[in-house]
Amino acid sequence: MRVDTKHPLAERLLAVMDQKHHWAYPSLTKPGLSRSQLLVHFQHEYLVYVRDFPVLLARLLGETPPIDEVRRVFAENLYEEQTGGLSKSAPHPELFLRMMEGLGFSRSDFDESVASTLHPAAQSYRQLLREGSTRTPWQAGAALLTIFVEGSLNERAELDGRFARAKGEDAISRHPLVLHYGCPPSAMQLVRAHGDVEGGHRGDAWSAVLGHTPPELERDVVLACERALAAWHRYRDGVAERMGLHQRVSEAS
Ligand SMILES: [Fe+2]
Repeated sequence: MRVDTKHPLAERLLAVMDQKHHWAYPSLTKPGLSRSQLLVHFQHEYLVYVRDFPVLLARLLGETPPIDEVRRVFAENLYEEQTGGLSKSAPHPELFLRMMEGLGFSRSDFDESVASTLHPAAQSYRQLLREGSTRTPWQAGAALLTIFVEGSLNERAELDGRFARAKGEDAISRHPLVLHYGCPPSAMQLVRAHGDVEGGHRGDAWSAVLGHTPPELERDVVLACERALAAWHRYRDGVAERMGLHQRVSEAS
């Protein structure tokens, strides 16, 4: 599905996505992290948004007006996230835990009981997502979840056709967790499922937001994503702090 990246709302949202980068990210794609550093990172990711992402989508779906094409996009996304039905795999939170087991962690490391130990900025971001999923206008919640949370720094390049995410076995064999941290490829079904389905979902998500946001609501949509970006940066700073990572002067922006 072709997305008009020159649409004024697309321009503003892409300007947000261009900033979805954190200085500590490169250390996650290189060798050198300890098991406990990896665990801190993944516990935060799982409890902040991975485990409940399908439910957040369900909440968003529950807020949408009767526009069939919009409801279909969110329902398909929800179906894949909560069942793995489109990629013929399993619920994505479950696939995440299998990846964690592949790294040698146990499921109990990801219990809700761990949530109280998350960095306060992580708890705030988690709360922002919960509240944002049902906030009006629904277009703001849609942009928050399906563009900001599911999207990445590569959003602009992906929509322009200049970036294609790695797929299938290639995506798995080159993944840092396999290359540097000993995760067996068989435990990487999550990456395979994302490669199989999410390219198409990106275009659908953008079309749902761009095609159904009247000009007078564009500000609400952009603001929701700008607030999320600020909270996300604080969240990532908090995780880096808990991992004991320090920003080098050359990385400061
Ligand atoms: Fe997913």
